[in-house]
This record gives sequence, C-alpha cells and structure tokens, in this order.
Amino acid sequence: MMTKLLRGRLLSFKRAPLSVTDTDSYRYESDGGLLIEAGKIAAIGAYGDIRKKAAADAVEIDHRPYLIMPGFIDTHLHFPQMQVIASYAADLLEWLNTYTFPEECRFVESAHAEKIAAHFYDELARHGTTTAAAYCSVHKTSADAYFSEAMRRNMCMVGGKVMMDRNAPQGLLDTPEMGYDETRQVIADWHGKGRNHVAITPRFAITSTPQQMAAAQALAQEFPDLHIQTHLSENHDEIRFACELYPDAIDYTDIYARYGLLGPKSLFGHCIHLSEREADAMSEAGSVAVHCPTSNLFLGSGLFPLKALARREKPVRIGVATDIGGGSSYSMLRTMDEAYKIQQLLGERLNPLESYYYMTLGNAEALSLTESIGTLDEGTDADLVVLNAAATPAMALKMDVVKTLPEELFLLQTMGDDRAVAETYVAGEAAKSNLTFQSRQAA
Ligand code: GUN
Ligand code: ZN
Repeated sequence: MMTKLLRGRLLSFKRAPLSVTDTDSYRYESDGGLLIEAGKIAAIGAYGDIRKKAAADAVEIDHRPYLIMPGFIDTHLHFPQMQVIASYAADLLEWLNTYTFPEECRFVESAHAEKIAAHFYDELARHGTTTAAAYCSVHKTSADAYFSEAMRRNMCMVGGKVMMDRNAPQGLLDTPEMGYDETRQVIADWHGKGRNHVAITPRFAITSTPQQMAAAQALAQEFPDLHIQTHLSENHDEIRFACELYPDAIDYTDIYARYGLLGPKSLFGHCIHLSEREADAMSEAGSVAVHCPTSNLFLGSGLFPLKALARREKPVRIGVATDIGGGSSYSMLRTMDEAYKIQQLLGERLNPLESYYYMTLGNAEALSLTESIGTLDEGTDADLVVLNAAATPAMALKMDVVKTLPEELFLLQTMGDDRAVAETYVAGEAAKSNLTFQSRQAA
C-alpha cells in the first residue's frame, strides 16, 4: 500500500473546548504534514518535519489552503430511510406510520438493500462522514447489505438489525425469538469483521413487547461490549404511549433501565424532554444522549437542551447526529448549524470550536472509539475530511473578511454543506472522488 503525505492546515481536538478562545483544547498546524501508511496516521506535525520522515517515494497530496480534520462522525441515522427524507408529516408518529414503516418494508429484498447501501456510503463520503451508527431495518438482509458494503469500503461503522415486534405493519415485525436469534446471527456474521461494530437495536419501547425487551436484555448480558441503540423522549405523544405500554416504569428512561439497557455503550436518540430524574439516571449509567437537530426541527419534536445537560452536576454524555430520514441533511455541518440555532432559541451559546469537537472527537468519545477515530493522533485510522471554507461564491466573499480560525469554522458551519467537502479519506484512501454513483454527482 502506498505511503501518502498530505499537506494542509491540520486541526484536531484534544478535549472539549471550554470557550471560543480555548486554544489548549485543539492542535492546529498552519502548514501541516500528515503521513499515512497502511491506512493509519504514521506521523503528524509541521510539514517540513514530516517531509523529512517520509520515504522518498511517498505520494504527496497538497490540500493547501484547505483544512484537514478527522472525518466527521454521525452517531444516529437510519440507513433504510434514504427515500423517506423530505416526507411531509405533522409529527413523529404520523411520519413513522405514513412513510417510514412502509418504506422500511422494502428492505426485505436484498437487491433493494444492496442498492441503497451503495448510495448510503456514497452520501456519507460526499458529506465528509467517515463513521456512523445506523439503524438497519428489521430484516437481516438489510444488516447484511449495510455491513458488507461498509467492509468493501473499509469504513468503521456501527449498526444493527432493528428489533420490533408490535405497533408496525406485519412486514416490519419480528418476534422476541427472531429478534434475538437474528441479532445473534448478525453479530456472528459481522461484528469485528473489517471495521464493523454490531449494535443491539430495539427500535423503541413502543415497537417492542416486554418479551422482546427481555430478549434485548439477554443480548446485552451476553455481549456486554456491544453498543446498544434506541430512541428516547423525542415527542410528547410518543412519551405518553410508551409509558402507557409499560405502566410499571416510573418514566420513559426507566423502561429501558428495567431491561438493563442503560450503560456506557448505550446511545439514546433524541432525549429532548428528559426529567431531572431521567437525566440523573442517564448520567449515572454513562449513557449517551444523541442530539439530532435537523430532525427535531423538521418533525417539530422540540429543542434539545444540549448546554443544560452538559453542564449539570451530573452531566449527560452527548453525541450529535443527522437522524436521516427524520433529519433533513446528511451534512454534519448543516447539523451543527441547526444545533447552534436551537441553543440560540434556548438562550444558550454553542461556540464553533465546540461544534467541531462534537462532530469529531466528541462523537468518537460518545461511541467509545477514540482509540481508532476522531483525532489525527499517530496510530489512529486515517479517516479524514478536507474542508474548503470558500467553496461557493458567497462563502468565498465572506472568507475575504474572515481573520481567525473560529471565524472560518463558523462560516463553514453556517454556510457549508457537501460542497465544502473537498475530499474525504477512509483508511487513507480518497473516498469522495471515488463514489460508486459518479454520474449522479456530475448531474
Ligand atoms: N422513533 C422510533 N423510530 C424512529 C425513527 O425511525 N426516526 C425517529 N426520528 N424517531 C423514531
Ligand atoms: Zn432515529
């Protein structure tokens, strides 16, 4: 495998920034060099120093004046909802029943699942996302398509066959036994193969019977290192319905706690309307609340109190995500622009450094994957995004007056999308310029 030397402005976080002037929270090389060998970052530093370390035959790629960052990470989205995005509905439950459930039924066909999987990874690469945690459909075929395509592209992906055995169309239901057996089979077939991570994925309390929740609990006990992903406290009608279905639970979070599903590898999508008790329980378990801003606005679900949850005496771990297809953009830049606006509406400030921390190291921490992704540290996987803050005429005009790094980042977040992604590298290989469906990109 050939050695590459990338040249550009390097930016990578060391920890969560405390303010917009917290320069100790990140590493920035204004003329940086990144040496990539066998898909991993072999060295990082000033270009002149790294050039001396590189073999004479290293292929040099000059990305100046662009920023090179760790690839974006998306901690919650739905692979079978690529054709659900932009569906007109009043709220979550109408949207699920009218568009989402019927569409997910199509993933019983492996040809359909395989076709959408190729589009899915193309879209991630186009938007600079190199790792994601996704829900497949209830069908094992969908998980097979998802993980085999991830492996083909050498991407680090978290995902799971959804478990759901009630309150959905027949074509989208398994049983407690099937959910257990097929999840076990997905684990056997895919977990640890390539860069794949299988997640135990009960969709949410509304679509799982107590028997199926017990099956999810059994899986969590058998495979304690696996991620668990589900939805929590997204919409008031959803909360009411879930609590009616589990009358013994003291609140929605307690439903999952009763089945042993609260832990440090658990990712809970949305968590908009948590009580103080629920936030305490999440914090004590080390579970992650995954903020999905474009989805929350699109479905009118509510305003996620990101800052309030992060600064609690018992802080809640936070991830950020697109939630395609409830979400309306594949772009983590667009996602953080909406996250910023939600905090504005709540009278809070989300500074630009924090946004980029969340998209990279913060989400790697949320997934407990910092050993391999989320930074530009030596020895980690060379998953990268190359960002051009002057990608459109309007952005270029604004760039003429931008003076500082945080200003540039804020411009990219406010105005940027896939056009601002000059290149995406997955395990050291260019992925955006190598899309499966090139003709669509050109069109
Ligand atoms: N709750 C249960 N399933 C879903 C889903 O597919 N999308 C969203 N946004 N919320 C859910
Ligand atoms: Zn979701």
